[in-house]
Amino acid sequence: MTNYERIQKDLIETPKIWLVTGVAGFIGSNLLEKLLLLNQTVVGLDNFATGRQYNLDEVKSEVTEEQWNRFSFIEGDIRELETCRKAVKGVNYVLHQAALGSVPRSINDPITSNEVNISGFLNMLVAAKDEQVDSFTYAASSSTYGDHPALPKVEENIGNPLSPYAVTKYVNELYADVFARTYNFKTTGLRYFNVFGKRQDPNGAYAAVIPKWTAAMIEGEEVFINGDGETSRDFCFIENVVQINILAATGPESSKNQVFNVALGDRTTLNTLYQTIRVALNECGVACDTAPTYKDFRAGDVRHSQADISKAKNLLGYKPEYKIQQGIDKAMPWYVGVLK
Ligand SMILES: NC(=O)c1ccc[n+]([C@@H]2O[C@H](COP(=O)([O-])OP(=O)(O)OC[C@H]3O[C@@H](n4cnc5c(N)ncnc54)[C@H](O)[C@@H]3O)[C@@H](O)[C@H]2O)c1
Repeated sequence: MTNYERIQKDLIETPKIWLVTGVAGFIGSNLLEKLLLLNQTVVGLDNFATGRQYNLDEVKSEVTEEQWNRFSFIEGDIRELETCRKAVKGVNYVLHQAALGSVPRSINDPITSNEVNISGFLNMLVAAKDEQVDSFTYAASSSTYGDHPALPKVEENIGNPLSPYAVTKYVNELYADVFARTYNFKTTGLRYFNVFGKRQDPNGAYAAVIPKWTAAMIEGEEVFINGDGETSRDFCFIENVVQINILAATGPESSKNQVFNVALGDRTTLNTLYQTIRVALNECGVACDTAPTYKDFRAGDVRHSQADISKAKNLLGYKPEYKIQQGIDKAMPWYVGVLK
């Protein structure tokens, strides 16, 4: 039995109360689905800034009525401390996902990104500390590596942030560390690398690369690649992210007041990604045989990214179950279902 299997069994036997912020978003709604399937009680908090009611509706359709009844939703904003206090009441484990994602969004509107990602984060930390929750796990970001050239990325070696978004995520880590030292409130930061999977929004100017390309291919539109396509990323399937959130929330003392890379520990170029998506869509009956169009490199994009995931393996027993190909094969039928 793996560590993850054992923890799931324990949770089913002794259910806990979880708070998932950003529950109507991509990662939050996938966390919600898994936790309800494990018969946990879940409080969700979201203001629908980028999250969608239909993500919650879809989760409802994936669980039993009894499981759904263990979910309560608070429509509210993490920028309001009282809302955060209400959300953490009586909770064992907090999974804090609510934030404004996207580097370009933060470049266009750094003030709102700062308010949500830093002030909102601080509200959540204060509320969770005062409530003395059992654990607080938060979404950090690989953007914290900034301009540090080393590959693979190791947690302690970071560079200068390259965007307002990266600053906000780094400040989260600084606050988390200060809360451990000042109040002995120890948290766990998860530095996600490009996460993908069902319910990741394909629409809008700030869509991530996999849903954006997938939607374009399904709708017969042109796919644009920034640069020569040899830029690489450590794409991580959502199920691996769900796994590490559960491991982190229930993790041992040695895993507290730490940050962890969350990825596969692998590197995929955009050209390979394009082909992988194209083939998977073909298998779903979507013919897309046009070549991508190459554009200039995008300012601020790092050339290569790859995580060293040994810290998460050693301290949390993290064992990613899905490689990129398996993740794409699982995600594509969902996109075909909702977009075709
Ligand atoms: N998806 C990735 O590849 C990735 C990579 C690195 C870090 N992250 C981080 O993971 C977390 C989840 O990202 P996601 O991809 O699911 O994005 P998402 O936009 O789908 O989800 C974010 C959720 O937070 C909610 N939210 C935003 N502002 C809020 C506020 N003021 N009050 C309450 N709720 C608010 C949104 O409505 C949305 O439902 C974020 O913190 C993001 O920065 C994601």
